[in-house]
Amino acid sequence: MVKSLDGKTALVTGASSGIGRSTAFAFAKEGAKTIVSDIDEDGGAETVGMIREIGGECAFVKADVTKPDEVKELILQTIDMYGSLDCAFNNAGLEKELTDPTRRFEESTFQSIIDTNLKSVWLCMKYEIDQMLIQGSGTIVNSSSIAGLNGIPQQPIYVASKHAVAGLTKANAIAYAKQGIRINAVCPGLIATPLMDRIWTSNPEWKAEANNFQPIGRPGQPEEIADAVIWLCSDKASFVVGHMLTIDGGFTAG
Ligand SMILES: NC(=O)c1ccc[n+]([C@@H]2O[C@H](COP(=O)([O-])OP(=O)(O)OC[C@H]3O[C@@H](n4cnc5c(N)ncnc54)[C@H](O)[C@@H]3O)[C@@H](O)[C@H]2O)c1
Repeated sequence: MVKSLDGKTALVTGASSGIGRSTAFAFAKEGAKTIVSDIDEDGGAETVGMIREIGGECAFVKADVTKPDEVKELILQTIDMYGSLDCAFNNAGLEKELTDPTRRFEESTFQSIIDTNLKSVWLCMKYEIDQMLIQGSGTIVNSSSIAGLNGIPQQPIYVASKHAVAGLTKANAIAYAKQGIRINAVCPGLIATPLMDRIWTSNPEWKAEANNFQPIGRPGQPEEIADAVIWLCSDKASFVVGHMLTIDGGFTAG
């Protein structure tokens, strides 16, 4: 059976957990040779195991996306192993603020959220676009958030990082659209992943409200974001450029 991404190579950062893991799995299921990348080797091995179990082709490459040399090497290894880079999901991210207000945080917290959520996306695109320009084609999806569109008062640095991802996505989408590279972003709502589990553990009152947070009446599942990323990377989304795709159970409709 022909699959929608047969013959393509996909790269997913932050693929050892949550949304990244589900998306790496979905890429492989659609026939893409998939690079599973993360700083977490054990989680990466689990993702690789899940993909191989369904007969998918994949490899783990350890890379800290905040480090320029490691990102450069990640893209080089992808090309070395699979010969091209057709689809990239720049997904690795973290949340450290929880409910404390801005004034309680140290500069180091600001820097670490900005480096992991924003600088990483810029670094990944820098090297991904180099390769996609050589090929004359490619699709990139960045991980923003409903926090990249709306203000969430408890998470100002996270919100700032995700708004900035929106800016990077739109500017680069316009810059490279004529050269065969389509760049978009996903804006997930509240999705049940280990990241949310950490937030819920330290803020049980948020967990109690989780079903009411979005009009649909439940948190999203990582697979529901993965499906949207696969669509954005497929030819079915051939005219979609610079779009911030909300997948949020209706949160931003309000
Ligand atoms: N879960 C949600 O509700 C939600 C909502 C909107 C946006 N997002 C975004 O989706 C993305 C994935 O989130 P998730 O919920 O799956 O989180 P998660 O914590 O389950 O997974 C994040 C992964 O990123 C990896 N990672 C962190 N720092 C890294 C680094 N420096 N280099 C390489 N890998 C690194 C972690 O090891 C982990 O495997 C994040 O960018 C997050 O901000 C999540």
